[in-house]
Amino acid sequence: HLYGLSPPVYPSPRGNGSTSASWAAAYARAREIVSQLTTEEKSNLTHGVTGRCVGQTGAVPRLHIPEICFADAPAGVRGQEFVSAFPAGSHLGATFDKDLMLRYGKALGREYRGKGINVALGPFLGPIGRVARGGRNWEGLGSDPYLGGVGGGLLTKGIQEEGVIATPKHWLFQEQEYRRTPGLEGESVSSNVDDRTLHELYAWPFMDALREGAASLMCSYQRTNNSYGCQNSKLLNGILKTELGFEGFVVSDWDAQHAGVASANAGLDVVMPVAKFWGNNLTEAVSNGSVATERLDDMNTRLLAAFYFLNQDEGFPTNGVFPYNVQHPIVDVREDHASLIREIGAAGTVLVKNINNTLPLRHPRFLNIYGYDAEVKAQPWNNPARFGGGYEENFGWNTLNGTLITAGGSGSSTPSCVISPFKALQDRIIADRGTLRWDFLGVNPIVYANAEASIVFINAYASESFDRVSLTDEFSDQLVKNVATNCSNTIVVIHNAGIRTVDAWIDHPNITAVIFAGVPGQESGHAIADVLYGDVNPSGRLPYTVARHESDYGTLLNSTVDPSHPAFLQSDFTEGLYIDYRAFDAQNITPRYEFGFGLSYTTFAYANLTIEQEPDANLDPFPDASVPIVQGGHPQLWNTLYRVNVTITNTGKVAGHEVAQLYLGVPNAPQRQLRGFERVGILQPGESKEVQFALTRRDISVWNVVTQGWEIQRGRFAVWVGASSRDVRAEGKVVVE
Ligand code: BGC
Repeated sequence: HLYGLSPPVYPSPRGNGSTSASWAAAYARAREIVSQLTTEEKSNLTHGVTGRCVGQTGAVPRLHIPEICFADAPAGVRGQEFVSAFPAGSHLGATFDKDLMLRYGKALGREYRGKGINVALGPFLGPIGRVARGGRNWEGLGSDPYLGGVGGGLLTKGIQEEGVIATPKHWLFQEQEYRRTPGLEGESVSSNVDDRTLHELYAWPFMDALREGAASLMCSYQRTNNSYGCQNSKLLNGILKTELGFEGFVVSDWDAQHAGVASANAGLDVVMPVAKFWGNNLTEAVSNGSVATERLDDMNTRLLAAFYFLNQDEGFPTNGVFPYNVQHPIVDVREDHASLIREIGAAGTVLVKNINNTLPLRHPRFLNIYGYDAEVKAQPWNNPARFGGGYEENFGWNTLNGTLITAGGSGSSTPSCVISPFKALQDRIIADRGTLRWDFLGVNPIVYANAEASIVFINAYASESFDRVSLTDEFSDQLVKNVATNCSNTIVVIHNAGIRTVDAWIDHPNITAVIFAGVPGQESGHAIADVLYGDVNPSGRLPYTVARHESDYGTLLNSTVDPSHPAFLQSDFTEGLYIDYRAFDAQNITPRYEFGFGLSYTTFAYANLTIEQEPDANLDPFPDASVPIVQGGHPQLWNTLYRVNVTITNTGKVAGHEVAQLYLGVPNAPQRQLRGFERVGILQPGESKEVQFALTRRDISVWNVVTQGWEIQRGRFAVWVGASSRDVRAEGKVVVE
């Protein structure tokens, strides 16, 4: 039990399709092909080759195996034309809406398929946001494993229902960007994590994606317990391929391979974007016995089984991916996804302050609009006409480059068109025969006294490769304060790629409304105008904790910097399960806005909480060991054992959605944890609906490190249902004898 050391788990389990009939059929076909391959052909299927996609394997034309095309991003095909830019993962998470999550996955899947991309490099299920300033937190669904799990499962289902291979990433623990890869300073950071935390926090969302059939998975850049993510036998051979019964293939993150034989034997199946330590070295390793032939065959079989599992040999479109600097046919895959993007855009918009019923706006005739975030690339020091373009243009979206509809790095998207807030608000004002005044540059703009309100647009940018340096910035805070000083009805809209603290001005009496508008994708302006004007009653909820002070995040504010061993940086996850709201609850720190918080234009009442045990509920502490596992783990983990019902009534004056959340106090676990949520279908004033939450075996279990199994806890479980993690509206309890 030495901390920070990864135990060896060998040999690598051979995939066999035993977890379902469709996997079995896919494996039979894959094996037949593999048996006909030459060693060179086998090797070609294990690594990337240069080509049109973000990555592609070599082809085997004589057996009709094409180059298998891999592409980003989790929020829309990146770097291609006539594609849609969807809201980022964190924006989708903020909707707490399962139906939207599934529809998002399906729409995304259709765009990938339409372009002939076999493998989508998402959903993004980690980092989940251990570190508040983490550069990639915005790409995932939020800082809670249950939310990520529900979303990750539905995204996987949606993508794969459209025939595209989903790739949950990054497995596992890449919770910071700082020193994620090795360099001159030394090895990459090592995330040192204990077994229980692995199961209950970080692997949890991946279990759901696997359960929905994810046919691929991406291993991560950094080290885990001092062993690199793509050669970590415990994580790949052990947890993934044994405990979770993974049938698909493991693809490396781009350039994340750091050894040839070690990665092969630890369970890596495909290396991207080039052969790196494989290619000829792999064939040599196989011929001299360092890597077993069965292992090489298993790599191929897993890849091809995934291909057949999704029926990609039948009528899969080809050749929809082109370089931007070469003329090519138009392949338009957008369908009507713009309206879904607009709907999710509005549903993930979080209203956090609204005094004097400032919002919704009531057909104002005169508005002031301020801030660099109101319009597309507003700064003269940037080229104001440049938006979109190819991969190169968009990899590295810049802060203060105008309105933030996506953020930086491989998770950024490339919209065909962008509806900026200014464009959408101008359309509204034109319809109302009004007047606008705007200033997108100044920090202390002229405030026109006749305006009914001033809307200030600011943003908080983040990007892959870097953690953020602050959760706030002085320019934006100063801009907000200056406008508020001069306008008694100041409305602040923040497009935020991750947490944005607001205590510099949140209590200013002239700031009447504040909105976290997230990372909304191409329909940004429509989405925010829909909420501002009340066409959509906001129901978005924060999928992370917004603290009053950055210091409230404590040691989880920043990525770890350990000056004592710079070459072997260690990040000890000693807080275990206590990140985000679990940490704030445990330490009794009052956040500015808690996890799950968001306001509505109406009010809701909760009543009649009832809890029923399922008639056939099996409450034995451990699942039945004689039942074979499925992909994702033991199938009984997903059995419903209890149902919780509550009646929700719209007690206000306008129609709206409530996002009801269930938190469970599991004995021997953090005080309260999200274990259910439902965005209730629109309720008219006075209307009621019954909402049901299902509690599964996994929901009431903790991971027992001694028995190596999920164990139902005994005793009293508190059940809280409410409008946020701290706004409890109905309570009950479950007692497990
Ligand atoms: C990212 C992955 C991405 C890959 C390919 C890497 O830098 O970490 O998430 O899929 O690049 O673009």
